[in-house]
Amino acid sequence: MSVWSGRFDGRTAIVTGGASGLGKQVAARIIAEGGTVALWDLNGDALAATQAEIGAAHVAALDVSDHAAVAAAAKDSAAALGRVDILVCSAGITGATATAWEYPVDSFQRVIDINLNGLFYCNREVVPFMLENGYGRIVNLASVAGKEGNPNASAYSASKAGVIGFTKSLGKELAGKGIIANALTPATFESPILAQLPQSQVDYMRSKIPMGRLGLVEESAAMVCFMASEECSFTTASTFDTSGGRTTF
Ligand SMILES: NC(=O)c1ccc[n+]([C@@H]2O[C@H](COP(=O)([O-])OP(=O)(O)OC[C@H]3O[C@@H](n4cnc5c(N)ncnc54)[C@H](O)[C@@H]3O)[C@@H](O)[C@H]2O)c1
Repeated sequence: MSVWSGRFDGRTAIVTGGASGLGKQVAARIIAEGGTVALWDLNGDALAATQAEIGAAHVAALDVSDHAAVAAAAKDSAAALGRVDILVCSAGITGATATAWEYPVDSFQRVIDINLNGLFYCNREVVPFMLENGYGRIVNLASVAGKEGNPNASAYSASKAGVIGFTKSLGKELAGKGIIANALTPATFESPILAQLPQSQVDYMRSKIPMGRLGLVEESAAMVCFMASEECSFTTASTFDTSGGRTTF
């Protein structure tokens, strides 16, 4: 992990899904670059281990699809951090791998509840703390699936298209208030989430990447940290890409 000394000095961040994969990598890098971080995640054991490993200031074990829990955690984390400058919404699941006409209804609903409704709850409850200070950087994790649609992943693709639309709307609402909100659309990268998918689906997604390899979590974290920094100052309500050439729009 390369580090820019002091880029996040004095800055505070909430990272959802912070106990694994991209969220963990982003949190570690923000801390290494001087920031203070609260981690939110469903997996309490992984959360405790990650807090000890990277030195997070505050953790909340919660389900982001539980609005009341998210509202309480936002208050607790804001109090623990003193202010909230950065929100990275990385919590997410893939759901079942099946055609739309065979898709299990409960899995479809769970994907939308976590990936889209949960992300809305996190943004809804954290933005007021940013408005207090007239400063904020929001990074919402979408996916190339939300731009292109992956076959056998209709719930995931729909949820991530929703994240893109939501973030474009939010960014325009916040433009002029010192708060920047963008979405990231990675292609497939090496992380524990891939264990939720059959190997054939991972192979299909790799075959769509012109660079011919999966991304590394460090490569997406580098982009997220730029999006979360003061230097990202004239791009909002937009999407950034880390896809090895898969999506060029
Ligand atoms: N890995 C990829 O190839 C890829 C590609 C494009 C987009 N993304 C997106 O990036 C984000 C991070 O993915 P990752 O690869 O780091 O996944 P990951 O599985 O390594 O980490 C996701 C974290 O979210 C947590 N989580 C899941 N459901 C939750 C809930 N209901 N409430 C709170 N926390 C919950 C998990 O416990 C886990 O710690 C996800 O939103 C994912 O959809 C990943």
